Parts: sequence; structure tokens; C-alpha cells
Amino acid sequence: MNVHATALAETHHLDEPTSAFAQDVIEDLSRAPKRLSPKYFYDAAGSELFEQITVLPEYYPTRTELSILRDHATAISAIIPDGAALVEFGAGATTKVRLLLGACRLSAYVPVDISGDFLRAQAQALRTDYPALRVYPVTADFTAPFELPEAVGNMPKVGFFPGSTLGNFEPGEACTFLKNARAILGQGARMIIGVDLEKDERTLYEAYNDRAGITARFNLNVLHRINRELGGDFDVGAFIHRAIYNRDRHRIEMHLISKKALTAEVLGQKFSFRPGESIHTENSYKYSIERFALLARVSGWRLLETWTDREGMFSVHALASAD
Ligand code: AVI
Repeated sequence: MNVHATALAETHHLDEPTSAFAQDVIEDLSRAPKRLSPKYFYDAAGSELFEQITVLPEYYPTRTELSILRDHATAISAIIPDGAALVEFGAGATTKVRLLLGACRLSAYVPVDISGDFLRAQAQALRTDYPALRVYPVTADFTAPFELPEAVGNMPKVGFFPGSTLGNFEPGEACTFLKNARAILGQGARMIIGVDLEKDERTLYEAYNDRAGITARFNLNVLHRINRELGGDFDVGAFIHRAIYNRDRHRIEMHLISKKALTAEVLGQKFSFRPGESIHTENSYKYSIERFALLARVSGWRLLETWTDREGMFSVHALASAD
């Protein structure tokens, strides 16, 4: 932890989440090259922009994953034991889990997310629509170890991690996440996970550089958020969105590029930018089925089955704990 960043956050009497945000921002903008964590995209405005991204014509992942879940619901459900507890890591909109709920006999659904209010609202809607289903929301950071509710202790456990959120983790973090998930779910666990596949550069480029400019607004929103929540003075109009495919590292990289030399101040700390200088804001890793199978294997899981769409754009995998 950067001592200076901690002191700054303390001086400004910030609440705990804002203080963590402030410390990360100050540390990450003090690095060379500068960066910001993609987890800070998702304030209310950013979450709304992300919902808009998911229905863009160029952004194929969401609709393709939904079509795989719909087309293979019976086969996918066959790997979920009757009476299981489904644990969704990072539960957001319930559209995807509803496809599984319709096709299998779950006893419980455990959505896990850092945003407690949103989670409780979604849980209530599911209880109304599936009266026999027990819903136990857990407010926690799903990238770190957490406890499952006691009530699901004796049920078989199945993890659910759709949306290719795994792709936003660095490969080492992805491995740690999969190992933690295995430890949390316990022996004999299974997991259903959606992973975006490597494909031609043009399709990838267009998915992250949409014509309507929504991805650009999503990326730039993190600077607005710094201005709103940390009293920053970023001239947001002086930055442009750039997304490129880095084929060697199998990832889309999102950057915010400064159009000119400028200085921005956050909590009394000044950050200078050269013309053309980047803040690296996100990586979105794309996997081949073989590379994902290897990652699963070294993380304590065995690949049971893979489903893809006809064009091979996106994959949904069933994993079993290797114990
Ligand atoms: C949430 N995540 C899987 C998205 C992705 O495709 O990596 C985030 C995103 N960034 C730009 N567009 C969408």
C-alpha cells in the first residue's frame, strides 16, 4: 500500500469504499504506465452504460452466451444434480440464471455480489417468480474467499460464472479465482462458466469500438466518477477511448488517451500527462478452448463438457472439481 495514498484518503475523511477507491486511483495513476482498475467502471452510470453495451449490434458476447444457454439448457442442466445449490459469482441481471432455473430442479440459489441493495432486489423478484426456490443472497467480494450460508451446507454445489467476467482477470488472477471457487464450493462441486473465444481481429475490434460510442462513454465514465466521488478535476473531453486487440497476449486492451499535455488533480495530488499518454483501464482476455481447459486443470478443475454457438464465438463450459 502506498503510504502517501493512505494518508491522503485519511485526511479527506472518506468512507471505507471511497477511501479504497481513492487509494487505488492515486497508486495506479502514480505508476508508469498509468492504469485504473476496471472494477471502478461499475457505478450507477457505468452499470447502466454496460447494460447498453450488452445489446449493441457489435457486442456479440451477451446475446451469443444467452443463445448457448437457451439452446443447450437441457444438456447443461443434466450436469446440475437435483436438489443442488447454484452459487452465482457476481450476480447481476437474472436473465441468464432464469434460463437454468427453468430447466433444472435446484433447491437453492445463492447470488454473491458486492452490491447488496441490487442483490436483494433481484433476490426478491426471483422468490416471487419461483416460490419453491430458496434464495440466499450473500454480500461479498466474490474474488476473495467467503462463506456460503449454513442452509446450503448439505446440498450439492454448482458454481455459475457467466458473461466472460473471467476474461477481465489477469491469467494469474483467473487461476486464483478458480481455486478459491473450488475451495468455497467444496469437494464434488461443479461449475458452469461462460468464456469468450479468440476470433478474428475485426470482430473483436468492432465489439469494443462500437459505432454508437457507448463503449467510449463507458470507458470515459471512470474519469467522471473520479471527478464526482473524489473531487477530481479531469478534463474528460481531453481524453479519447482506444481499444486494441493484443494478439500476442490474447486480449483486448482498453485505454484512455490524453489528446494533449495536461495536469489533473485528485485529492490534492497532481498527475501530469504527455500528449498521447495512456491510462490502461481494462484487459479482456480471449481464450481458445484448449487454453481454457489448461487453465481449469491447473486450477483444480476437470473440463466435463463445452458448448459453443455455431460460429464458435463464445463458449460455455461445465467443470467438475478434480478431487
Ligand atoms: C464485463 N466484461 C466481461 C466485459 C468485457 O467484454 O470484457 C466488459 C466490457 N468492456 C468493454 N465492453 C465490455
